[in-house]
Amino acid sequence: MNLQELMELDRRCVAQTYSRLPVALVEGKGALVRDINGREYIDCIAGIAVLNLGHAHPRVLAALQQQAAKLMHVSNLYYTLPQAELAGMLCRLSGGYMSFFCNSGTEAVEAAIKLVRKHTGRREIVAAENSFHGRTLGSLSATGQEEYRRAFEPLVPGFRHVEYGSVEALRRAVGRDTAAVILEPIQGEGGVVVPPEGYLQEVRELCDRRDVLLVLDEVQTGIGRCGSLFAWQGFGVEPDVFTLAKALGGGFPIGAMLARPEVMRSFERGDHASTFGGNPLACSVAKAVLEVVEEERLAERAEELGEYLMGRLRELQEKHGVIKEVRGRGLLVGVELSTDCSRVVLAGLEQGLLLNCVHGRVLRFAPPLVIEREQLSLVCERLDRILEGLDD
Ligand SMILES: Cc1ncc(COP(=O)(O)O)c(C=O)c1O
Repeated sequence: MNLQELMELDRRCVAQTYSRLPVALVEGKGALVRDINGREYIDCIAGIAVLNLGHAHPRVLAALQQQAAKLMHVSNLYYTLPQAELAGMLCRLSGGYMSFFCNSGTEAVEAAIKLVRKHTGRREIVAAENSFHGRTLGSLSATGQEEYRRAFEPLVPGFRHVEYGSVEALRRAVGRDTAAVILEPIQGEGGVVVPPEGYLQEVRELCDRRDVLLVLDEVQTGIGRCGSLFAWQGFGVEPDVFTLAKALGGGFPIGAMLARPEVMRSFERGDHASTFGGNPLACSVAKAVLEVVEEERLAERAEELGEYLMGRLRELQEKHGVIKEVRGRGLLVGVELSTDCSRVVLAGLEQGLLLNCVHGRVLRFAPPLVIEREQLSLVCERLDRILEGLDD
């Protein structure tokens, strides 16, 4: 099948909910991927912050193959070694949190919503404007972007949205019926928005004073991407509950909602469940991912390479007036342009780059954490060429 035939089949048979680029990817290794025509690209988005270990990492493949041959699925009616071991690892790495496993980011947020309501007996959740927490109705209700919500109302009641970055706005919104505040440590889908210095600490203090839970949605920021295993560790703010998905499985679907034990213990038998959640295959792969992130110090690597990438991008900013701002943390980096960035993404394909555009004007870089410095250098050289073309 060639690309045209594939696109036609997709158009006829797949729900048309995605705006896809005209490229079909067939294989990858590290930070490189190849398309159906044999053309190679440097992957600057890693499946949207999923492939932190890059494509086809040998340890991920080994875990997948070995566990698949042993036991793929048995249901949560039984204990399995991989699930308990993964929970044990996450408990050690987070400093004591308990895990509930699911299959995606949106499910992790759903679990968090149920848990905070059950734990506090209160109904309201305060979230941020411009946030993104997922597409199912609970997490969509937490999501603070009208364009995703509009067609699906009525949503779940009890959600309020306030300006991200303003403690004062939160202070006004938190009331007697507030169960929790939910925030992304950095807003990813919202355009890589880094909160003002000290914001998360002040939110933590506010939550403590008002006896409200703090939920941090780490679906995009977690697993080393922002320079620490969980972004909250880098910000020095301990949440009561946090969510993981995306990079936890290194490309295999898994999600997790983690909570301090005294909060998680409010979930009793039968309160929540998932058929596939925490299945042996997903958990074996996630364990391998965490081992590699730890052994190869990928969080530190993300921090170093992030500094390098942002430095190079700021040099481009000096040169190209179209770049308004470069911001980010670790290898989650946003380049805000003064123009629509979809043209840049298309030109990226021509230059052998998989680029990503969020919020219309922000190029979001979330490459594999194993990417080489030389590859990042190439990315910047090619971006330079693309922006030169734009300037004409
Ligand atoms: C912060 C955050 N939460 C939740 C989600 C939803 O995750 P999923 O697409 O796995 O449901 C995303 C996805 O981009 C996200 O960035």
